[in-house]
Amino acid sequence: MIKFGIIGFGYMGHKHELKIAQTQGMELVGICDIDESRMDDASTPGVIKYTNADRLLENEEIDTVLIVVENHKHREMVEKAAKAGKNIICEKPVALSVKEYDEMIQICEKYGVGFTIHHQRRYDKDYRTMKNIYDQNTLGNVYTIQSMLYGINGNMHDWHVYKKYGGGMLYDWGVHLIDQILWMVPSKVESVYAQVRNVINFEVDDYFKIDIKFQNNIRAEIELGTYFLGDKENWFEHHWFIGGDKGSAYSDGFFPNGKIVKTTRLLTNVPGETTMTFAGPTRSFGQIDKDILITEELPIANNEHIEFFENYRDAREGKTEFIIKNSEIRRVMQVLEAVWESSEKNEVIKFEGGL
Ligand SMILES: NC(=O)c1ccc[n+]([C@@H]2O[C@H](COP(=O)([O-])OP(=O)(O)OC[C@H]3O[C@@H](n4cnc5c(N)ncnc54)[C@H](O)[C@@H]3O)[C@@H](O)[C@H]2O)c1
Repeated sequence: MIKFGIIGFGYMGHKHELKIAQTQGMELVGICDIDESRMDDASTPGVIKYTNADRLLENEEIDTVLIVVENHKHREMVEKAAKAGKNIICEKPVALSVKEYDEMIQICEKYGVGFTIHHQRRYDKDYRTMKNIYDQNTLGNVYTIQSMLYGINGNMHDWHVYKKYGGGMLYDWGVHLIDQILWMVPSKVESVYAQVRNVINFEVDDYFKIDIKFQNNIRAEIELGTYFLGDKENWFEHHWFIGGDKGSAYSDGFFPNGKIVKTTRLLTNVPGETTMTFAGPTRSFGQIDKDILITEELPIANNEHIEFFENYRDAREGKTEFIIKNSEIRRVMQVLEAVWESSEKNEVIKFEGGL
C-alpha cells in the first residue's frame, strides 16, 4: 500500500484525491492547504488535514507526496519534501526554468527520494489515438504533425493571469502539448521556431505557435489560442492532423472524432484536369472522384488518466518503468526555453547535434 499526502488541496488536489481513491494499492493519509476551507469537502474518510506542509511532512506514515501548489512554489516544496525523505510526484510545469528543474533533480538525488511529474496527458484519448496511428506506421512516412488547441475564454482564470505565480498558457497547457509531441516522435529536435503573444491578457501568454523540426525531417506544429473564436463543432477542443505519404489522419475533440484518409492509388503525375471552383479554375485543388478516396474510422484509444497512478504503483513495485522519465521532462523544459528565446529574438533556435 502506497500512502500519500497531498500538498495544495485546490482544484487539482481534489482530482488527485479521487484518483488515489480509485487506484488499488493506494491510500490517502493526509492533505494540506494554507486555506483551511479548501479541505472542507475532502471525501476520504479519516484523512488528516494540515494547514502547514511541514507538519504533513513529519507524518512518517506518508511515503509519497503530491505537490499541487501554484507553479512558482513547486521548487520550494520539492526541496522540503525531499529533505523530509518523501518520494515526490510534482504537478506540471515541474519548474519555471531548466535551471530550477536541475536543482530539483539534484536535491532529490541528494536525499535519495523518487521524483516524477504528473504529465497525465500522455493518456489523453485523442493524443493516444493519434500516437497509435503514428506508431503503427499507418500513414507511411509522416512529414507533418499539427496539434491545435483553441478556446474562447481568453482571460485565464485565477493566478494563471499573473507572471509571478508562473501563469500563462505555455506553463499551463504548453508543457503538455510539447511533451505529447516529443513523446510521439522518436527523433532528436533539430530546431524550434515560435511566436508567443499575449493577445488579450496583460501579463501572460495566451497564444503561441511553435514549429519543431526533428532530425528525422518531421515538422510538428503546435498552436494554442485562448481567444480563438470559432463556431464549428468541437472548436474549443484539441485538434490533430498527421500527414504522411500513404495517408492522413485528423481528429477533432478530446474524445477523438475524425478519420484516416487514404487514396486507392498514389496520385502523382495525374493528368492536369481543370476543375471549376468558386475561386476559378484549378488543377491541383479541385474535387477528386469520390471512389478514389478511402476513409477509415479512427481506432479510438481506450486510455484513462488513472493509468498515470497505476503506472506509479506498478513502477514502485518494480513491475514496470515509470512512464515519465526525468530526462524527457528536462527536454520539454529545454524546448520551452527555446520557444521563449525564439519568440523574443524572432529567430530559429538550433540545437547543435540535436536535442
Ligand atoms: N496536470 C494537469 O492536467 C493539471 C491541471 C490543473 C492544474 N495543474 C497544476 O496543479 C497545480 C495547482 O493548480 P490548481 O489549478 O489546483 O490551483 P489551485 O489554486 O486551485 O490550488 C492550489 C492550492 O494550493 C494551496 N497552497 C498554496 N500554497 C500552499 C502551501 N504553502 N501549502 C499548502 N497549500 C498551499 C492554495 O491555497 C490552493 O488551494 C499547478 O501547478 C497547476 O499547473 C495540473
